[in-house]
Amino acid sequence: MVKKILLILLLPFLVKSQSVEQKKMQWFKDAKLGIFIHWGLYSVNGISESWAFYNGQISHNEYMKQIEGFTAKNYNPDYWAKLIKESGAKYSVITSKHHEGFALWDTKFGKLNSMNSAARKDVLTPFVNALKENDLKVGIYYSLPDWSYLDYTDHTRKIKRYKIEDEPKRWDKFLNYYQGQLAELRDNYNPNLWWFDGDWEHNEKEWEVDKIKSLLREDNENVLFNSRLCGNGDYKTPEIGMPVTRPETNYWELCVTMNDSWGYYPSDKNYKTPKQVIDLFVDCISKGGNLLLNIGPKADGTIPKEQVTILQELGKWTNKHKETIYTTVAGIPYDHFYGPTALSKDSSILYLYVRDIPKDERIILKGIENQIEKITIVGEKGNLQQQMLCKVSWNKYPGVIYIDIPKEKIDNYYTVIEVQLEGKVNLYRENTGAIECN
Ligand code: GLC
Repeated sequence: MVKKILLILLLPFLVKSQSVEQKKMQWFKDAKLGIFIHWGLYSVNGISESWAFYNGQISHNEYMKQIEGFTAKNYNPDYWAKLIKESGAKYSVITSKHHEGFALWDTKFGKLNSMNSAARKDVLTPFVNALKENDLKVGIYYSLPDWSYLDYTDHTRKIKRYKIEDEPKRWDKFLNYYQGQLAELRDNYNPNLWWFDGDWEHNEKEWEVDKIKSLLREDNENVLFNSRLCGNGDYKTPEIGMPVTRPETNYWELCVTMNDSWGYYPSDKNYKTPKQVIDLFVDCISKGGNLLLNIGPKADGTIPKEQVTILQELGKWTNKHKETIYTTVAGIPYDHFYGPTALSKDSSILYLYVRDIPKDERIILKGIENQIEKITIVGEKGNLQQQMLCKVSWNKYPGVIYIDIPKEKIDNYYTVIEVQLEGKVNLYRENTGAIECN
């Protein structure tokens, strides 16, 4: 009883805070596609980002020599932003500093930054400007750990953590350093989202998570945080592994590589095809999440051609299917359609994503209680033929619909079928018995 009364009293506040959250998250929820960029020293030798020395494949010394090869000679931030836009992405997240500590901007904290590389310039500012000019949201990736900063680690050869309680002053020095960098990034760029990484090395108290969140919210209380702040963020970040079942959380983003590497890694040719990337993308859309697709530019600033192709092909598909992507919410259970689906925000349009057309050129939709107004192919003219089976007057079972998909109308990647319903989607989830009425 007491619980019930409490709930009734609290309800208006809960509803209000929910709508404040929804408002803040809206652009992210609608964005669906973001482009991740891993650009740093590792692109010079084409080795793994930071982990190459952490895992002993190369010494810290050798790794750092790459600074003389980081030229950014052919870097064209406007082209980057335009290509991102062309892919259909609505935001981009760039590594301002990875675990090895190399900063892409002119930081006053430490010397390990692009000003002291062969590029001799700040490479982050022009990219952030280009994103803004192209009406794309700005995400800043920042690694909490800094494996080159000697007040963070005991040794750069074998990363060793010291006990903070034994050396609190030393840890304070590190906190000043990294929080100083964050304040610089905030002041320089006022990003829309912060993408933290590496939180696993310390706990939330040690990182001072609350403090950095309020620091970064000072000028923008709606700024978003990913959850790699010991779980204290606005959305979850599964990595590489596409969730098999629909995540319970409302807000999530799958980050994924185009091949098997985050940074430029020329020997890694295990690229996904554009269709395989769209497989992942459609899966994210249908489960109510975002895809953060990574590119790894070369040290001179060019984007490898395989990656450009994927972005451009993706763009062809997203451009043709806008209404089935950005203004949708998660779809219906697979029980009704053997494939990914999405719904319009008002739930009156059902989108069926068809990867491959069955031999008999028909797909099956089951258990939809609504009247169906029409069924079309997105981007094509004309209604599709349908046949209703297993529907009788003496029970409530709504039947099985066979929809014809003419071969000549199929898309190179995914054909999207638009099913216009009368009213909000209403799914039949019961088990039918014998005669229910006569
Ligand atoms: C992991 C890796 C890192 C990569 C990141 C991207 O945390 O440590 O190298 O940048 O995932 O999500």
